[in-house]
Amino acid sequence: MRRVTLTQYLIEQQRQHGKVSPELRLLLEIIARACKAISHAVSKGPLAGIGDAVGTQNVQGEAQKKLDVIANEVLVEANEWGGHLAAMVSEEMEAPYKIPNRYPKGGFLLTMDPLDGSSNLDVNISVGTIFSVLRCPEGMMEPDEKAFLQPGVNQVAAGFAVYGAATILVLTVGNGVVGFTLDRELGYFVMTQERIVIPEDTQEFAINASNARNWDLPVKRYIDECLAGKTGVRGKDFNMRWVASMVADVYRILSRGGIFMYPQDSKYKEGRLRLMYEANPMSLIVEQAGGAATNGRARILDIQPSALHQRVGVILGSRNEVERVTRYHTGICRTDVRQIPNEAPPQTDEAV
Ligand code: AHG
Ligand code: MN
Ligand code: MN
Repeated sequence: MRRVTLTQYLIEQQRQHGKVSPELRLLLEIIARACKAISHAVSKGPLAGIGDAVGTQNVQGEAQKKLDVIANEVLVEANEWGGHLAAMVSEEMEAPYKIPNRYPKGGFLLTMDPLDGSSNLDVNISVGTIFSVLRCPEGMMEPDEKAFLQPGVNQVAAGFAVYGAATILVLTVGNGVVGFTLDRELGYFVMTQERIVIPEDTQEFAINASNARNWDLPVKRYIDECLAGKTGVRGKDFNMRWVASMVADVYRILSRGGIFMYPQDSKYKEGRLRLMYEANPMSLIVEQAGGAATNGRARILDIQPSALHQRVGVILGSRNEVERVTRYHTGICRTDVRQIPNEAPPQTDEAV
């Protein structure tokens, strides 16, 4: 079997589909290289104290781990000099990172979650890196916060790496979703999934059930129906998984289907996950793989962001299940959730 490397894939996308300009290819190759370095650091585990707290907090008041800080530095240092970026936004930095004047500036904006699932670092469970690429608005040489506040439909590429038993990179440039595995001996990513497609139906759901008392009625109803299994209205048994690393949960869904939910609830009124560097890139990937992604009321990719670190409710994965949960919130029964307007939800059990 021909081994297609990430570089070959990107060049072919450029030649055959005009999807990847040389500047975008450089950006994606640099991110992949940074992910290799982060993967190497993660694999050192307790030998490098990667799960240790560093005593600082990020902009959302979460304790930073040593590897949160290292991963952010690796990504910033890898991306600042290449001339392909106008600015970067990271979970670990309050304001946009401007490209230093000693380097040329490019036409793209990068948002990233350098280390996703960092609460799993000290227990040796998979973590990852999530990224999203936007175009810098025309003529803006010193992009500020406003330059980044674009809806997810504007993303030109999105991806994530999972540092698990194998290091896997999942990527979309708007032409389906492909998966690469890091060949550690050779040092490069090799394509191992040519076209990832999420099955429309599933019998597996992922949610942090410790929040059950805080859930809104439509979410309660959906989970209760899954738990009722064969004897309930769904007429089939469901399985449950929750890794608490979105990268690992989404990778599982891309591999065998499923639904992932971190919904808005009475505790996380705006949702828990971040729109610009968690929900948007994952939603683009999931849609490109044939799945769906909403906040319960609207398609995530259509949401106009109002702040860099804004949070959002997330329901994504197998299309028929996401549409069902969305229908429970809105009362609207449509086959394509992308058409659902952002309207106030009826908070009743009757909404079907
Ligand atoms: P991060 O480590 O970047 O802050 O993200 C963690 C996120 C996400 O990966 C995961 O799905 C969720 O937080 C887990 O939350 P709970 O600890 O509430 O289950
Ligand atoms: Mn995260
Ligand atoms: Mn993170």
